[in-house]
Amino acid sequence: MDMEAAHRLDLTPLTRNAMMVGFDLIQWCMFNGPAVHNALHALMKLWDQKAIRAVHPTVAYPIAEMETAMRRMQRGAHVGKLILLPGPDARFKVLTRSSSFARLDDPDATYLIVGGLGGIGLALADWMIARGAQHILIVSRRAESHVEAEPLVERGRAQGCNVVVRNCDVAKKDQLVTLLAESARTMPPIRGVIQAAMALHDTILQHLTYEQWQSSIQPKVAGTLNLHYCLPNDLRFFVMLSSISGVVGLVSQANYAAGNNFQDALARHRAAQGLAAVAIDLPAVGDVGVVTNSEDSAMRARLERSVGSSSISIGRVLRLVEAAVVSPVRAHDINAAQLVVGIVAWDRITTGALPKRDRRFWTMRLGNTSGAAGAGAVGRSNNPDDVLKQDLAGASSGDGALSLVMGALVRKVATLFNLVEAEIDTSSGLSAVGVDSLVAVELRNWLSSVVQAKVTVFEILQTATMREFAKLVTERSALVI
Ligand SMILES: NC(=O)c1ccc[n+]([C@@H]2O[C@H](COP(=O)([O-])OP(=O)(O)OC[C@H]3O[C@@H](n4cnc5c(N)ncnc54)[C@H](OP(=O)(O)O)[C@@H]3O)[C@@H](O)[C@H]2O)c1
Repeated sequence: MDMEAAHRLDLTPLTRNAMMVGFDLIQWCMFNGPAVHNALHALMKLWDQKAIRAVHPTVAYPIAEMETAMRRMQRGAHVGKLILLPGPDARFKVLTRSSSFARLDDPDATYLIVGGLGGIGLALADWMIARGAQHILIVSRRAESHVEAEPLVERGRAQGCNVVVRNCDVAKKDQLVTLLAESARTMPPIRGVIQAAMALHDTILQHLTYEQWQSSIQPKVAGTLNLHYCLPNDLRFFVMLSSISGVVGLVSQANYAAGNNFQDALARHRAAQGLAAVAIDLPAVGDVGVVTNSEDSAMRARLERSVGSSSISIGRVLRLVEAAVVSPVRAHDINAAQLVVGIVAWDRITTGALPKRDRRFWTMRLGNTSGAAGAGAVGRSNNPDDVLKQDLAGASSGDGALSLVMGALVRKVATLFNLVEAEIDTSSGLSAVGVDSLVAVELRNWLSSVVQAKVTVFEILQTATMREFAKLVTERSALVI
């Protein structure tokens, strides 16, 4: 009996003075070792005395057919034991997961952080040191006289990392070329760069002077382009810290927004050439950096309100950068080279905020219910569940949605029970096909996450026909408007 399923219990056996005891074998093994030992000992004695014998019949499956064996067990139609046999030539599916930690401990690599003494840049430098980087080149226009420069170099030294701090305006190509020439003479080759340079001059476009325009544009446009041209093509990573200001278009930040848009476009351009590039469009960062340090204490709340975003922590920024370093080349889908972070769900965006006024964002209403990944998510996945979600969200009529749900339900049941789809009789109920309470729980979870319809196990088991059930699911689906 599965206690976690919290079924009602038939109490009739208790009329025979029977006793029922809840017993968790796993807990018993964990907390009562000697008792388990004694029990196993007694068991082996019985085995030696031939008082007990192995369960039979047994059905063996090659390990490659694990799914078939599991499905058979799930149906509860078998007697005895199912055995999985590994073999030297067996081939089976495994789920692999690449490391989510960036390896920066190559002694023959230098990593460059532009704007590396700014709020976020400093955190990035400490992160690189912690990840084992041995040579880091930190640059900004006035880096050498920055109050944080010396302590950072010291922190690096204490952890075996050679941190070099240099003045360089990356927007000036000659300065960058000179810096790179010096670094080529004195440090290992530059293998990765994080571009975190910015300069803010916020005011509405009518009041913006040419100089103010230029000062925000320069580090983002000229600076990033110079890095693109002057650094080698075989960089392991090229990460740009861009901003969602460019995506939503903050009124008083036309210069900054344009600079960020440039970085987003450059990320796609590089990705299309098979080069490393990721632009991360950050929202306000809540604990370090320019928003936190601003004298305008209301800036953060104002940004959140008008952009429809929530602030993120520096810890989250570091995780995003780490993901960009671990997966630096996004040539398979150039749109994946731009990550838009922090825009909140449609319902949480206040009326009057930029995304609510701009039709380009209105598809986010679907994201509210479909769980689509933010405004930047486009393209069609090959995963049948994703395809179903997208099709349901775009279904123009109730009938269209119903036939999509019906088709998906038949496919799911066919997979669960190893059946041919054509053999499934949709005029009978799911329990007639073999769905029991265990499978019903699996179906319920699948319907909830993919079709976004909440149904109960009772409804799965008791609805008279699959067609009726599909209708119920379609009506409840949050994807079908
Ligand atoms: N903080 C946030 O909430 C936030 C939100 C969204 C996006 N971002 C992005 O995150 C990155 C870092 O932001 P932050 O808050 O750390 O900014 P920050 O504290 O102002 O640091 C930026 C650094 O860039 C340097 N810099 C400016 N122009 C330069 C140039 N031409 N060449 C070289 N260095 C230059 C500045 O140093 P010098 O004056 O010495 O040159 C400054 O230390 C930026 O790309 C920004 O767009 C930040």
